[in-house]
Amino acid sequence: MLFGAGTLRAYGTTRSVRDPGLCQARADRGQSPQPIQIVCSASGELDPTAPFFRQPVPRWLLTTAAGAQRWQGTAAFERCWVAPLTQAGGMDWPAIWRSLALQGRSRLAVLGGGQLTAALFGAGLVDELWLTVCPLVLGGSRAATPVDGAGFWASQAPRLQLLSVEQRGQEVFLHYQCTGDRRTGGRCTGDRCPGDRGTGGRSKVIP
Ligand SMILES: NC(=O)c1ccc[n+]([C@@H]2O[C@H](COP(=O)([O-])OP(=O)(O)OC[C@H]3O[C@@H](n4cnc5c(N)ncnc54)[C@H](OP(=O)(O)O)[C@@H]3O)[C@@H](O)[C@H]2O)c1
Repeated sequence: MLFGAGTLRAYGTTRSVRDPGLCQARADRGQSPQPIQIVCSASGELDPTAPFFRQPVPRWLLTTAAGAQRWQGTAAFERCWVAPLTQAGGMDWPAIWRSLALQGRSRLAVLGGGQLTAALFGAGLVDELWLTVCPLVLGGSRAATPVDGAGFWASQAPRLQLLSVEQRGQEVFLHYQCTGDRRTGGRCTGDRCPGDRGTGGRSKVIP
């Protein structure tokens, strides 16, 4: 599981696997009781008193050298992973994915938020997207979105194919597959694309 520091700051906890059937399925597959929870934070500025640090889950921090330094000498994270960087100085997501694959970790669920998913869509690393439509209207021009950042030009926006629709009570679960060339290269350079902003690891995004 991978999620951004903003998501951790907003909720203070992560999602652990609690359903007995799912726990058993993990045991049957020889997996650890809980998936590794990877927090992505360039700064490493996280509240060590957050309930997340008391949850019985394995924790990794994906960060920079400066971020890792903040957690040196603590047992908060099993691993502080200094991310490889691109020439532009951002995290090199394809290299991070390759490294995970070399460690035998080929499935990754991304829980958001919008900043992290934007980077992964931009790098063309998302295979599937799950969206849940809930029956309430939050609104607000500064509301969190599933995919943040500058957005994509419509002509090069990540394309999705609907795989399934499931209704549970008042909620609707949408499951999409990303199609075509997932590396868009079509990011907008301004704050917004004029009227055609895209909606929006091998990874699955579950915002
Ligand atoms: N409805 C849902 O299902 C759902 C799910 C998740 C989140 N959310 C909402 O989303 C909001 C949080 O989202 P957010 O926009 O703050 O995004 P986020 O991706 O959760 O967090 C952003 C922070 O994560 C780190 N980060 C993300 N991408 C990075 C990258 N490519 N390279 C380096 N560091 C990166 C940075 O941490 P540092 O600042 O520490 O460097 C960045 O400031 C909250 O309001 C939350 O409620 C909703």
